[in-house]
Amino acid sequence: MTGRRYDVERVRSDFAMLSRRLAGRRLAYLDSASSAQVPAQVLDAMRRHQGKHHANVGRGSHTLAVEAGVAYEAARAAVAAFVGAQPGEIVFTKNATEAVNLVAHSFTGRDSRHVGDPRLQLGPGDEIVVTEMEHHSNLVPWQLLCRRTGATLRSVPLTADGQLDLTDLDAIVNERTRLVAWVHVSNILGTANPVDVVVERARAVGALTLLDGSQSVPHRPVDVRALGVDFLAFTGHKMCGPTGIGALWGRAEILDALPPMFVGGGTVAAVELTEATFLPPPARFEAGTPPIVQAVGLGAAVDYLGALGMTEVRRHESELTAYALDVLGDVTGVRILGPTGAVDRGGVISFVLDGFRPDEVGRHLDALGVQVRVGRHCAALVCRRYGVPGTVRASLHLYTDRDDIDALASAVRSIGRRGR
Ligand code: ALA
Repeated sequence: MTGRRYDVERVRSDFAMLSRRLAGRRLAYLDSASSAQVPAQVLDAMRRHQGKHHANVGRGSHTLAVEAGVAYEAARAAVAAFVGAQPGEIVFTKNATEAVNLVAHSFTGRDSRHVGDPRLQLGPGDEIVVTEMEHHSNLVPWQLLCRRTGATLRSVPLTADGQLDLTDLDAIVNERTRLVAWVHVSNILGTANPVDVVVERARAVGALTLLDGSQSVPHRPVDVRALGVDFLAFTGHKMCGPTGIGALWGRAEILDALPPMFVGGGTVAAVELTEATFLPPPARFEAGTPPIVQAVGLGAAVDYLGALGMTEVRRHESELTAYALDVLGDVTGVRILGPTGAVDRGGVISFVLDGFRPDEVGRHLDALGVQVRVGRHCAALVCRRYGVPGTVRASLHLYTDRDDIDALASAVRSIGRRGR
């Protein structure tokens, strides 16, 4: 389909879920930032694999074991190619949260014999930098790391219109900084954050960099070499794959320095009673039987996205986001958080409605077939920054169309009319 006009109706026909009706109405699924729907192509690939090729991987030499192993590694290669990486740099994890935790757990105190690489040894006086826009999954692991090692957590503040305030970046990221971890596209504000300027500053002070790509990899072209970061975390179920699988990409040289987090079968080269030596990445990090069919599903999902063309997907979502900001912004009493102007942003639109709690709005919308997420969206710092208890969040994906947005706007208008 690349190069042709993006045909959202044709895309929608791949997603059986979208023809469901709720409360006698057309389903308007606007919670893709939470979890995306899955197309027939992905469901078929998983069913085919389970039905014809299922066996464990990395252990057996019989025909089915070899077929399963080939399928698992083909999925890794597909995921790697999707983000411009080498297959050996992709570690399959349970989700993006586990990918961030894997990196956080790789650091130890300065006196540790567990990790030899000095880049991974932290102590008092060292600093980790995040932003106030982080999902808890890219915040709490760093809090615990600081507590464990005596390092200090610092953060980049936000501007009034929901962007990173980089005015003091050079002071916040300084010679004490050991790692900068930040979100590529915010799951609550939709803001697309700069990467190059942060990477440049981190590199200048010798700090490692980790980007949370949970809301960017499913929606726009992402190339790890072009980004220039050291780590990228993302998750399968937000990119039309199944739950239970995500990935950590790490630059080969730094990934090789990381110790394993979970250990056991599949991770070791040699084992004695009191010692073991570990395999190179990615096997070192994939202990036990991995999520094989989920990996096959994720491989099919990136094939699906790749065939549509991520530039086309991005263009479709950008146009629709502009439309949504427009029609929602026109509804009396709606206040949209985050960027509303002509800036780079993702299809995540958070708002509050005067006179109504987010959960009241959510219940009203649900009764009209409109599925949105309400609450803090695992981003408590953002809610505190903008003085709201939570928001109503509509989030788009490659299958979202104008009817979904119109249904949302009309449902929000109707609660305003209904009153309490
Ligand atoms: N991280 C997901 C969200 O923002 C669950 O909804």
